[in-house]
Amino acid sequence: SKGELDQRIRTAKAALGERLVILGHFYQRDEVVQYADFVGDSFQLANAARTRPLAEFIVFCGVHFMAETADMLSRPDQAVVLPNLAAGCSMADMADLDSVKDCWEELTEVLGDAPDGAGRQPVVPVTYMNSSAALKGFCGEHGGIVCTSSNATEVLKWALARGQRALFFPDQHLGRNTGKAIGIPLEQMPLWDPSRQLGGSDALTLQRSRVILWHGFCSVHKRFTVNQIAAARQRFPEVRVIVHPECPMPVVDAADASGSTDYITKAIAAAPTGSTFAIGTEINLVQRLANQYPQHKIFCLDSVVCPCSTMYRIHPSYLAWVLEALNRGEVLNRITVPEQIAKPSRIALERMLSLKP
Ligand code: 13P
Ligand code: SF4
Repeated sequence: SKGELDQRIRTAKAALGERLVILGHFYQRDEVVQYADFVGDSFQLANAARTRPLAEFIVFCGVHFMAETADMLSRPDQAVVLPNLAAGCSMADMADLDSVKDCWEELTEVLGDAPDGAGRQPVVPVTYMNSSAALKGFCGEHGGIVCTSSNATEVLKWALARGQRALFFPDQHLGRNTGKAIGIPLEQMPLWDPSRQLGGSDALTLQRSRVILWHGFCSVHKRFTVNQIAAARQRFPEVRVIVHPECPMPVVDAADASGSTDYITKAIAAAPTGSTFAIGTEINLVQRLANQYPQHKIFCLDSVVCPCSTMYRIHPSYLAWVLEALNRGEVLNRITVPEQIAKPSRIALERMLSLKP
């Protein structure tokens, strides 16, 4: 039963004491979030993994790429555990190392690999945190960097100061929204289609490009539309619409603001009583905010409830299972990134972490 499960988790957690820290992403369901020692967006969680000195075990309630990052940024003697190994991210899976390498080769053929007069390399790879450790490693090896939704602007500026252009993967929407925000015209942000030669672009388009966008997307955020925003504004003329930057560009343009899950959380926390918010992001977060702030009217832009199905795979019973195993001295579902990948990957992560927020 629910009460029994709750008791098992609390007992197992208490017995581990300071040897354990439970990290939870904002999209986790409430039944899991209640046990987290720290809840945050993907950037904050990466930082938390880096700065939790005591914990021997980091139980990560989130998705696979986040746990990999936690493993790479924590100490080697700390074990990162993902309660359900099937908790992946469909967007992260849209860019695999081989296709990115093929793309890189094609780009090098067209653009060369020599720096220009200002010392800028032809292309700087930028990977969204939502990607495998192998891709972060690729970026580390090729002068590139990692970004999250909370620092994409600073990261893209960094990349474009060092390169004539950036190759941004896997999320085309975050890439396009960020490029647009820093003033790059759409025609200089071609979409790379790995099934076609030169991604379906001609050499001139690639030469003139500033940001080459991978074709990935988030199936949760892709669902939000401009029509939903129009309908919300019609019903509640005072509504403030905030969306995640993984939403398509027209949706971000039609919203009042866009930002990471932490940005959304803070914007609501800072609002005067009686505010109305329509939010374009994952439903578990929106629902939690609505419950937490009954003095506001908070609803999801999409009336059809759509959780992130992979975040949802962290069920409390998995949490109980891994915690009880830790008490028996068994580390189940440990996420370890091999050192030959972790090393270059950390370079790309550290480049991001050293940027001023
Ligand atoms: P945040 O970095 O905003 O937490 O986003 C992570 C994510 O997976 C959004 O879909
Ligand atoms: Fe991946 Fe989208 Fe889920 Fe975020 S909401 S973890 S991008 S599938």
